[in-house]
Amino acid sequence: MKLVIAATGASGAIYLQRLLAQIDCAAHEVHLVMSAPAKEVAKQELDDFKVPSNVSQHSENDMNVPFVSGSARFDAMVIVPCSMATLGRIASGSSDSALLRAADVFLKERRKLILVPRETPWNLIHARNVVTLLEAGAIVLPAIPSFYSRPGSVTAVVDTVVWRILDQIGLPSAHTYRWGEKSVSTKRKKN
Ligand SMILES: Cc1cc2nc3c(=O)[nH]c(=O)nc-3n(C[C@H](O)[C@H](O)[C@H](O)COP(=O)(O)O)c2cc1C
Repeated sequence: MKLVIAATGASGAIYLQRLLAQIDCAAHEVHLVMSAPAKEVAKQELDDFKVPSNVSQHSENDMNVPFVSGSARFDAMVIVPCSMATLGRIASGSSDSALLRAADVFLKERRKLILVPRETPWNLIHARNVVTLLEAGAIVLPAIPSFYSRPGSVTAVVDTVVWRILDQIGLPSAHTYRWGEKSVSTKRKKN
């Protein structure tokens, strides 16, 4: 698969870290774009943020990348975490950076665009922007974890969201907890 993974300045750099860790970046072509605020938030939230060596990293303003053109074939773009600022810019049709242009291209080409916003509470502008993006064909997958798998660590909580992202990309994880398929120990375990 050919994937674009972008990160913006919402809280939740760990979602990006866990997603990169669970994609086989040697088997797939993975391009990463991080906004300047995303890099700052990652520094604030993580001690050891490392990008896998086989991921191609690009500046958010470098338009000399294949995924800003509809002529290049890509399978999916994920923005994780997605700030409400970026979500609003995409909803407004802004293409002022490689990150925004790529999102715009994925929508116009009817390719999979998965946005993972992390904000609470929402104002009406956030809600309206989300509706606009849903109408335009985006998948809005908020960073809202689930607890029915009894996650016993922060990483395990984060993975309940990451598994849903992987499902949407079409690269399901063998570790995904799926309701009705596995029994859950009622005793909380540290993983
Ligand atoms: C520590 C920190 C945490 C933030 N958390 C969020 C957040 O959870 N959600 C959000 O939408 N914006 C959050 N922001 C605000 C964004 O970083 C800010 O709107 C920024 O301009 C987004 O730019 P970008 O979308 O180009 O990355 C946070 C900012 C900081 C400094």
